[in-house]
Order: sequence, then C-alpha cells, then structure tokens
Amino acid sequence: IPVDPFDLVIFGGTGDLARRKILPALFRRFSDGQMPEEARIIGAARTEQDGAAWAEWVHKALKEFLPKEECDKALIKAFLERLDYLPIDAMGEGGWKELKGKMRDGVTQAFYFSVGPSLFGALAERLHAHGIAREDARIVVEKPFGRDLASARALNATLAEHFNETQIYRIDHYLGKETVQNLMAIRFGNVLFEPLWNAQYVDHVQITVAEEVGVDGRGAYYDKSGAMRDMVQNHLMQLLCLTAMEPPNRFEPDAVRDEKLKVIRALDPVAPADIVRGQYVGKQSYLEDVEDPSSRTESYIAMKLHVSNWRWNGTPFYLRTGKCMKARGSEIVIHFKDTPHSIFEEDAGNKANVLSIRLQPNEGIDLRVTIKEPGPGGMRLVDVPLDMSFADALGPDVGHVPDAYERLIMDVIRGNQTLFMRGDEVEAAWAWTDPIIEGWKARGEKPVPYETGSSGPEEALMLMHRDGRRWRDIV
Ligand code: BG6
Repeated sequence: IPVDPFDLVIFGGTGDLARRKILPALFRRFSDGQMPEEARIIGAARTEQDGAAWAEWVHKALKEFLPKEECDKALIKAFLERLDYLPIDAMGEGGWKELKGKMRDGVTQAFYFSVGPSLFGALAERLHAHGIAREDARIVVEKPFGRDLASARALNATLAEHFNETQIYRIDHYLGKETVQNLMAIRFGNVLFEPLWNAQYVDHVQITVAEEVGVDGRGAYYDKSGAMRDMVQNHLMQLLCLTAMEPPNRFEPDAVRDEKLKVIRALDPVAPADIVRGQYVGKQSYLEDVEDPSSRTESYIAMKLHVSNWRWNGTPFYLRTGKCMKARGSEIVIHFKDTPHSIFEEDAGNKANVLSIRLQPNEGIDLRVTIKEPGPGGMRLVDVPLDMSFADALGPDVGHVPDAYERLIMDVIRGNQTLFMRGDEVEAAWAWTDPIIEGWKARGEKPVPYETGSSGPEEALMLMHRDGRRWRDIV
C-alpha cells in the first residue's frame, strides 16, 4: 500500500549513513511501489553541488550497496527523478530560505537529522526560525543519543524546545529488524508461549549479538564509546525489553513503550563480578585499530542481569556482544527449566526445551523439544528441532527480508512511533548504564583480551559456568 505523499529532507545527505542505509532503503520501498508519485527526497548538506550531481552520487551508492539484480535501470532512473538537493549551512543562514521555498503544503513533512548530535539543536532551531517545519512535521534522529544521562537529557531538552514528543522519531535500527518484530508476534500472537514466559518455567535467557567485523574505520568514534554505549545501552537493551516486558494492551506506540520503560526501570544495578569486558587481540588487534596502545575501551561485553519484578524474580538474563568474534550471529534464546519430575531413567537423555529466535543471519525460530528416539530399543529420548526458518516456511514469494531502515523510514511517513524510542526510555537506559561505566573508571578497570575470531574471553565463559550454565555456540 503506498504511503501518503511526502517531502523528506535528509540533513547529512552526502554522509555515510545516507549512502549505505537511508537511500538504498528508500529505493527499495520505491521499487516495491510504496512511494507515491508525489514523494520527494531532498538531500541537504554543506557540499555546494546541484541536484544532478547529488543524483549521480546517489546512483553510485545504490549500485554499491544493493545487489545487482535489484538495480533495474528504468527503476533507478525513475527514483532519481524524485530527488532534489540543496546546499545548506546547518550553523549559519545559507540555504534555509531556499529550503522553505521547496517545501510543499498538503504533504507529509519529515526531516532526517543524519548528522552528529551536536547539530541537532541548530537544525531544530533553524527549521523553526525560518518557518519551515509545520506543527505536524516529523524529525528523525539517530544514535548515539547522548553518551550519558546528562547529555541525553540535554538533547531531549533541545529538541523539546521546538518539537513535541509525538514529532520525534529516535531510531534504534534493531527495532526495525524483521525478527525483532517477530518476537512480539510470537509472544503476543500465540497462546502457547506466554503462560510459560516467566521465572516459574524459564531457567534463564541469553541474548547474543556477535559481530565478525572489527571497528572498521570507525575507531575514533568507537574508542570513545565502547560496546557498552555502542550496543548494550541501545540495541541489546531493546531486545531485553521486548523479551521481558508485560503484554501491552495494544500494539500502539505508548502502550508498547510504557511496558519497555518498566523493564528498564526494573533492572537491578549490576555487580562488577557479573560483567566481563574484553578487547580483541591477535591477527586483528583493537589497540592497533584505534591507534591507541593504552586504550581501555571494551570491544566485547558479557553481563548477567536481573529484572526485579514478579515475572522474572530469580531468572537471570545473560547478554553478550562483541566485535571480531568467530561469526556474525545474533539471537535471543529462552532456556526453559527441566521437567519438574522425570518419569524416565536418569540417563534417558531428557533435555530442557530451548526456544531460540534468530535475528541474523538466517532469520527464524527454533524450538527444541524432546521426543523418543525412533527404534525398537528402550525409552531413549532425544531433543530435536521444531525448526522454522522463515525462508523455508514462507517460501520465496515473501520476497526479500526488508532492511530495518525500510520499515522504519516508512513508519516515519506513516506517523507510527511504535518502533521508535521515547525520550524517557532513552534516559532510563542511560540512568542504568552510567553507574556501570563510572564504576569501571573509578576502579581503573582494564578489559581482558580475547582472540580475534573466537567466542570471546574465557572470563565470559566462566560467568555462565559458575552458575552451572553455558553459552550457546555462536554459529
Ligand atoms: C550500530 C553500531 O549501531 O550497529 C555498530 O554502531 C554495529 O558498531 C551495528 O556494528 C550493528 O548493526 P547490525 O544491523 O549490522 O547488526
């Protein structure tokens, strides 16, 4: 179904995110027929160039970041006709009058702040001073949304000077991932799981986001952030929230976000012994990648968390994420408890049920159940997968799994904030993160080394072993 006609202005229109993610995502939605005739995308950045030059640059980006078979010449040509460009000075006055002249009445207005947070205030202010943003305009902002509670609060306050909360779309692209939304479908679209989704039946939960890549040319940014700020405070926190939250009464923005916020607020502070920080070494080395031999920033983190409420009392959540690991593999795994009493012999092979929700690659759900091993022998048990890879189950006709940005940008145009973070949610996440980072600093803690291409540091394995549990293999 096509969305309403829109003017989408991308500030930072010549930047890396625009090239890699935003424009390819927009092109895919266009190819799918979701973009109406009257949709227009306006790039805005410092570079002095005309619309044709930007369109040429966008063309190159599409060819670089989309598979060849998607780059249909006629489609690309038609897409490029929707584009326009304007040189603009975010901190000065140049270009703003011209931008106002380009905006149309009667179409949805969205401004994508694909720039560093230090420019958010200037952009918001000028959009208003020049009478460009209407009252129903939407703005989109990217992470990092601050680097601690104080800076996140300041950013929220700056944006609030010019925009209402209902106009602000804070992106956490993990919420746009197909399987992350599926987590909600599985939990709240079936009667099967929810009665068991609590401390009485769940032994523990594992959330893994493993990456094969290193800091890859982003050393300067990453070294100031580390895995805690770059991944845990936002992406892993969102996965944890969706896994642990109570059922919202509706699939609506505030209903969902209220429940997520309650989870963050229910998180216990984390004891130092329940966190492992690591840095990759070996054939690729973190310290060389960031060109600072004394850096104490973590490229890996594993932690054990407790959600202090009725549902989860006593069920630990183990989270881990890292760069330069043995494979790219992200999943949420629910380990159920053993049966309360076994009627089979002790060594019959009975295993606890495990439900895993794979985010990437090979999106799908896998439930391990115990059955009898076929054959005439005794009662031998074996656990087998009730596997449902989406590609297998739904067939090739479902088309490609959309990239997170495709879903999220269209949600901005539709005016649906469900998959975006609310200001109080982001602040609550920082309020929980801050003391952990401050603790490392105060204790002068150094990350432990782990081999590039491994599953992470030994110490992280111990975090589980000492509780009589183990991490799932990263595959
Ligand atoms: C980004 C982080 O937000 O997410 C990166 O800044 C990380 O460091 C990326 O690599 C991971 O996203 P994805 O979609 O590739 O899992």
